[in-house]
Amino acid sequence: MISALRGMKDVLPPQSGLYERIIKICEEVAKNYGYEFVLAPHLEQTALFRRSVGESSDIVGKEMYQFEDKGGNDVCLRPEGTAGVVRAFIEAKFDRAGGVRRYFYHGSMFRYERPQKGRLREFHQFGCECFGEPSVYEDASVILMINEIFSRLGIKTKLLINSLGDAASMGTYREKLVKFLDEHEGQICEDCKRRKLTNPIRVLDCKVESCQKIYENAPLIIGSLNDECAGEFKKLQEILSGNGVEFEIDPKLVRGLDYYCKTAFEFVSNEIGAQSAVAGGGRYDRLVEYLGGKASYGVGFAMGIERIMEILGGRESESKRNGVYIGAMDADGVDAVYKIAINLRKNLPVLVSYEPKKLQKHLNAADNANARVCLCVGEDELKSGKIWLKDLSEKAEKTIDLADLESELKRILNV
Ligand code: HAM
Repeated sequence: MISALRGMKDVLPPQSGLYERIIKICEEVAKNYGYEFVLAPHLEQTALFRRSVGESSDIVGKEMYQFEDKGGNDVCLRPEGTAGVVRAFIEAKFDRAGGVRRYFYHGSMFRYERPQKGRLREFHQFGCECFGEPSVYEDASVILMINEIFSRLGIKTKLLINSLGDAASMGTYREKLVKFLDEHEGQICEDCKRRKLTNPIRVLDCKVESCQKIYENAPLIIGSLNDECAGEFKKLQEILSGNGVEFEIDPKLVRGLDYYCKTAFEFVSNEIGAQSAVAGGGRYDRLVEYLGGKASYGVGFAMGIERIMEILGGRESESKRNGVYIGAMDADGVDAVYKIAINLRKNLPVLVSYEPKKLQKHLNAADNANARVCLCVGEDELKSGKIWLKDLSEKAEKTIDLADLESELKRILNV
């Protein structure tokens, strides 16, 4: 048997129904915030991610699905969605047109990570990206959007926020941090020694306990923010508090991608083990220019659908009965039920049994299919233009005229 690749998962019903429900809620909320759907390719030039996500990040350094295509191009399956949407925005010349544009997307992302609970090699994100808006109210809006999505899904998470400052603040901070790391060179791990040379702020994210102990005394970015960045960070906190959003400031939150400045945030859950981040994002005002476009503000987020499903999976009760099942008791009735089904399917979900069988067998099949209503015809019903119907939730049965069938089903199914 040929099995799926390690770290790649099939999502079959009823779990796939949960996936659909999550995406539907995400889309509804994003549209209410003025975001529009965008489709970008899964395959991009490797250089796009090298330049945006960053050479020093684990994603680019270790986790890319990178290969040479038949034309000799160095290509890569997207490890995240932001870079591709930024490229599309620049390629469509929207950076030159000005104004504010808001996009949402969802789909597969690929990272060659070590698979474990909550960590896949192909996973799915729902993400939003806003271009051209400098106001910190938009930073607050993307956070509020996630909050709204989680509240509609009934998920409880903790929001962590930080500010990474602008280029000037980051420059000042970097100097202080490198000085601190030089003073502790003998005590930090090999990875952190490397990070000190490539992207020092990454050390704050180190998972080695002895390093974390040392970084308890490391200088913090917040201490190096200039007046503008400090003011915006304060304003963000005021907007969030003023709109009932609870948060914690995590001064060591640096995120695993290089493009962020100012606002950085993560939503974490204590219900899914070590891989606790369910959503993350922030501002990336330098990225458009860095990828060759005209300087444009950017802010956005992405959430991991599998991690949300993991939280909900244990909690969702058995999926609700829905739709109609129809079958015939003898061979002559199959054509008739088929015709009835085709008609009903213009407005309602209908499963047809092509096999004639006894009523009890149809009822069992309808039950297994989780149908709300079982319809069955025998010779007598057909002759008199009637049909037998059972509401499997209410356990109520009756025989009704075919002419009244659709309206009766709509009433039961509440559509
Ligand atoms: P990220 O934090 O790398 O950000 O990923 C966002 C979310 O994707 C994570 O919080 C997590 O739920 C999920 N995720 C990441 N890796 C995996 C994995 N291996 N398996 C399962 N789920 C995973 C970004 O990707 C940025 N592009 C977000 C962003 C958009 N920032 C601004 N705009």
